[in-house]
Amino acid sequence: MIAPHGGTLINRVVEGDERDALLAKAAGLPVVTLNSREASDLEMIAVGAMSPLEGFMNEADYNGVVNDMHLASGAAWPLPVVLSPKAGETAEAGSEVALKGEDGTVYGIMAVDSVYQPDKKNELEKCYKGDEEHPAWGYLASIGDTYIGGVITVANVPSYEKHNDYRFTPAQTRAAFAEKGWDTVVAFQTRNPIHRAHEYLTKVALEQTEGLLVHPLVGDTKSDDIPSDVRMQCYHALLNKYYPLDRTMLGVYPQAMRYGGPREAILHALCRQNYGCTHIIIGRDHAGVGSYYGTFDAQQIFNNFADGEILINTLLFEHAFYCKLTGGMASTKSSPASNEDKIFLSGTKVREMLSNGERPPAEFTRPEVADILIASYAQPAQA
Ligand code: ADX
Repeated sequence: MIAPHGGTLINRVVEGDERDALLAKAAGLPVVTLNSREASDLEMIAVGAMSPLEGFMNEADYNGVVNDMHLASGAAWPLPVVLSPKAGETAEAGSEVALKGEDGTVYGIMAVDSVYQPDKKNELEKCYKGDEEHPAWGYLASIGDTYIGGVITVANVPSYEKHNDYRFTPAQTRAAFAEKGWDTVVAFQTRNPIHRAHEYLTKVALEQTEGLLVHPLVGDTKSDDIPSDVRMQCYHALLNKYYPLDRTMLGVYPQAMRYGGPREAILHALCRQNYGCTHIIIGRDHAGVGSYYGTFDAQQIFNNFADGEILINTLLFEHAFYCKLTGGMASTKSSPASNEDKIFLSGTKVREMLSNGERPPAEFTRPEVADILIASYAQPAQA
């Protein structure tokens, strides 16, 4: 089994007497409230999905990550994972705080070792190549100007109403892969329904690996991305009909989307390594938004790391499409197709067709997926 990033699968969740003692202690501590992104980060840290992180980043880790894509320990890490106290909340280095959800649930305790003022503009430029129109700025501007870092200990991981049958921890996916006898497993990160191009990438990958983990991101996304419950319906319909179920596993990935393109591709890869995947698919404009990143920046960024720094392998894909000339899915690497030979629809066109109750061509989206999307567009308000 592939090693977790940093060598050890972190577990910051306590149980039994230790949990009772932690909750009793938390009741007497000043509170820091976590927004939904921070809560999903807490969950991922606690269960080891962000190994080797044991808590939210202190100033040394934050600066190392933003400016040089490495933690203070020297381990590769591409994006900040930070906690910002809310209005009226304070924390002091050397003290402990109770971590609570917006619904009042006590998650656990942080041993605060660092309280610092980030240079958010530097973070925006270095990590996201962004400007004030980038979704990262929307988030950065919405949180406070102080970050606090330190190791966390968790009594209650956040609970959710949706997808609970598909919320596997890294320990659980690793156990599942071992039980299935999969030595090689490719992860497919997605924040979209699986269209034919996505399907092609996963099928080509499956020709090379023993298992496929379809691992849709279900943390916070932009309001115009398709909601995760609609996407889950699409994944079920597609997988049940068109995938070899003995070689395919569906699980959700609770992280919030950063729209960080290349740096987020590294984040997606390291976390999937922690889930036990040996490979990850990185296609065109992975985790991209607007025109902030070059089409293949998210593939090239992996070359910045020395051998052995990132153990998971990348499976890289050029732009995939249905090719009328060859009569099948292809990419520019495998077909001499001219633009007229390619079935290509813009996101705007697809949305327009679906909201008019029209199925996009079957070469673009399977009809079973199209029908679910059409039904969701017909709903007056989407959750
Ligand atoms: S992402 O934000 O999760 O990257 P999306 O769900 O659209 O967005 O993409 C999932 C994966 O499929 C990414 O690795 C992306 O690069 C890849 N991908 C999506 N569409 C294509 C395509 N037409 N050709 C090649 N790769 C693609």
